[in-house]
Amino acid sequence: MQLNHARILLTGSTGGLGRALALQLAQAGAGLLLAGRDAARLAALNADLGAGHSSVRADLTRPEGVAAALGAARDFGVNVLINNAGIGGFGLFDRQGWPTVAQVLDTNLEAPMRLTHALLPLLRERPEAAIVNIGSTFGSLPFAGFAAYSAAKAGLRGFSQALRRELADTPVAVIHLSPRAIDTPLNTDAVNALNRALKNRSDSAEVVARQVVAALRRGDGERHFGFPERLFAWLNGVAPGLIDRGLAGKLAIIKQHAPNR
Ligand SMILES: NC(=O)c1ccc[n+]([C@@H]2O[C@H](COP(=O)([O-])OP(=O)(O)OC[C@H]3O[C@@H](n4cnc5c(N)ncnc54)[C@H](OP(=O)(O)O)[C@@H]3O)[C@@H](O)[C@H]2O)c1
Repeated sequence: MQLNHARILLTGSTGGLGRALALQLAQAGAGLLLAGRDAARLAALNADLGAGHSSVRADLTRPEGVAAALGAARDFGVNVLINNAGIGGFGLFDRQGWPTVAQVLDTNLEAPMRLTHALLPLLRERPEAAIVNIGSTFGSLPFAGFAAYSAAKAGLRGFSQALRRELADTPVAVIHLSPRAIDTPLNTDAVNALNRALKNRSDSAEVVARQVVAALRRGDGERHFGFPERLFAWLNGVAPGLIDRGLAGKLAIIKQHAPNR
């Protein structure tokens, strides 16, 4: 896709990856409709991008937030939706309260599905359109200590693949991208400590944003970012027992870092 013709609704634009994406996409000539919950941070980012962009304040876990995003997308002439908003959820499943689990599922899976459902009629009318879903390595390599988050991201991956196949005879491309850990505020001190203890590598938001922009330009269907994460995600698909055994050896470290609630 030629980005200088793109009109992009970017959710989670005020976050770490979102901000880097907004700056790089604007640089490439795209028009940005920035979505987020924090009015002050939205206004600051909008000002940094300069003229020709817009913003909408929307909590996407609420029907009125989805309606606000849809109205703004219609006015802005959106032809690309980037479902990037998300929250983390590190913790042992039986120690997490249900409201936390529900919030993780709602924000990371149901909200992007709802927004996609609301915007699809509009996207179908464009000569060229795309939906980009920001998943996670954990969507293909479900991880101990991240049961709800892994379930949500695996769900987002399944949704993306099914929808891509369903929209194969339309101008709407569905792109699903799986970054490994990114240095952003999504990761708590406990997650950063766990990643250091497990020697899990992480990428800067700028590097991941460059990979997302390149994937959108090429029109990739699926892409995993980072090695060896890409290999382990594949291995989990063909021989999950090997990953079970590998992660069993790390369980004590994961438990040691997991928050108590
Ligand atoms: N960081 C990582 O290690 C990592 C790794 C792989 C994948 N990812 C994925 O990358 C994406 C971006 O994450 P990030 O690392 O940039 O996180 P981040 O810095 O915490 O930013 C998250 C963004 O999501 C928005 N958001 C959260 N809940 C929302 C809601 N209910 N309604 C609307 N917006 C909401 C936040 O907006 P507010 O300003 O309103 O809070 C913020 O803009 C997420 O989908 C995440 O799962 C992250």
